[in-house]
Amino acid sequence: MKFLSILTVAAAASSALAASQDYARHLELNFLFYEAQRSGPLPATNRIPWRGDSGLNHGADVGVDLTGGYYDAGDNVKFNFPQAFSMTALSWMGIEFASGVEMAGQTQYLKDTVKWGCDYLLKCHEKGTDVFYMQVGDGDIDHQYWKAVEDIDYPTPAFFVNSTNPGTEVTGETAAAFAAASILFKESDPDYSSTLLDQALEWYEFADKYQADYSVSVPKAANYYKSWNGYNDELAWAAIWLYRALGDESYLQKAMSLVSDYQLNEVGIDWDSKYQGVIVILAQLGIDEYVQKVENWVREICTNGKFSPGGMYINRDSEWGSLRRATSMAASLIYYTKNLPEGSELRELAKTFAKSQADYVQGNNPLGVDFIVGADASSPRSVHHRSASGASCMECEPTVNEHIIYGALAGGPDVNDQWLDYRPDYQKNEIALDYNVCYAAVCAYLIEEGLNIEDPIPVWEFDYRINTDVDSSDDEEIEVDISQVTEADNDSSCDEDDE
Ligand SMILES: *[C@@H]1O[C@H](CO)[C@@H](O)[C@H](O)[C@H]1NC(C)=O
Ligand SMILES: *[C@@H]1O[C@H](CO)[C@@H](O)[C@H](O)[C@H]1NC(C)=O
Repeated sequence: MKFLSILTVAAAASSALAASQDYARHLELNFLFYEAQRSGPLPATNRIPWRGDSGLNHGADVGVDLTGGYYDAGDNVKFNFPQAFSMTALSWMGIEFASGVEMAGQTQYLKDTVKWGCDYLLKCHEKGTDVFYMQVGDGDIDHQYWKAVEDIDYPTPAFFVNSTNPGTEVTGETAAAFAAASILFKESDPDYSSTLLDQALEWYEFADKYQADYSVSVPKAANYYKSWNGYNDELAWAAIWLYRALGDESYLQKAMSLVSDYQLNEVGIDWDSKYQGVIVILAQLGIDEYVQKVENWVREICTNGKFSPGGMYINRDSEWGSLRRATSMAASLIYYTKNLPEGSELRELAKTFAKSQADYVQGNNPLGVDFIVGADASSPRSVHHRSASGASCMECEPTVNEHIIYGALAGGPDVNDQWLDYRPDYQKNEIALDYNVCYAAVCAYLIEEGLNIEDPIPVWEFDYRINTDVDSSDDEEIEVDISQVTEADNDSSCDEDDE
């Protein structure tokens, strides 16, 4: 128990600074996180001083340029399935909360983030062929190493699906990402928008025509992002986004036929399950049956949902990446309710829920920790991330990461609000493309709702906007506390298989 009391002392020391309601500042940090995850040659505008070019030979093994895109998490694989979901979700946020994003000054960063992902995904299929690349890097090889992405010298093979070995989840999700992004770019870049839409149709047609679980066709995917709920949700998700992009009723009918049996439950939208998103969009369209479903769901979650003692929403999946679970439910509830009349009961319930979860993330929790890396003196310093760690193995020195990977949402506490800033515990300290997406949407929403409260100039020196010495900024007191914490905890399991 020693380490817990040390952490509590550290938290108390910084509690005045924690509990930020500056969603705009946190949203700004969010896009820095995506920048830090970039693969490929980096542009001159790169804002992450410790990141350089990487993965320049991606696709060389198959004679195709597959450079670019994003590394998934604390490891160094490009898993297209969660990556495409992240692009779909960020586009959704950009479409629905455009003014919140704009009020935070982040419109261009949002578009750059989505374009970086979509540019890579566009490379994953040549028009007219039946080969669709769906992963670069082999998780089993990758997880044997702990290296920064710039230093990778092990094989990073490309994997694909085709008509004899199809993969409906990943091709359906990629179609959804392109369709959603085509809406995001419709006004500002019509040419890019129509390229995306054209590819959305090609990927969708393939996904629909050749149906199979992608992790069966490509067993290498099974240990990492196996889709547990099958692929009907990705087909429906792609169809509803194509409906939104094209207005063609046949896609609407298709989406409805695929989700009609799904019962909304305690879990929000995530990289595996898109049913919630489809049903919420159907409700947004005003279709009675779905309006009823979503309204009942919002009431049920907000009044009978389960919460940790400190107020984090919890469900059956909360033991791994709990904050991603809490914020995904928050985001799932606001897309429909934000359009209800101001002051209506459901709108207020969802708003209170969403704000409580964002505030929990941002320090209003029993530990007083702001779980967005680099946001506050209390923020995690040892998230599970190879490139940021500056270490040559997971448990090697420095135990406090050398680089601050600004904006990443750390996995989060257990269901009793306990958490340690301890790199090897990846269930609580990993960071990932899909972790941030719903949280970012909640931030944009809260800004739009007029709830942003700007933070005072932070006492802790962390200003990433001036490019000096960012990574050696430190607060002695906090750093000492945290290193004691990491040394004290010595019994976490380090099985990385499913990281
Ligand atoms: C699909 O790829 C597999 C190898 O993964 C290959 O054996 C098969 O012939 C390919 N199918 C087509 C139609 O090219
Ligand atoms: C963890 O425990 C082992 C044995 O109990 C000990 O040898 C080792 O030094 C400890 N490591 C840390 C980081 O405390």
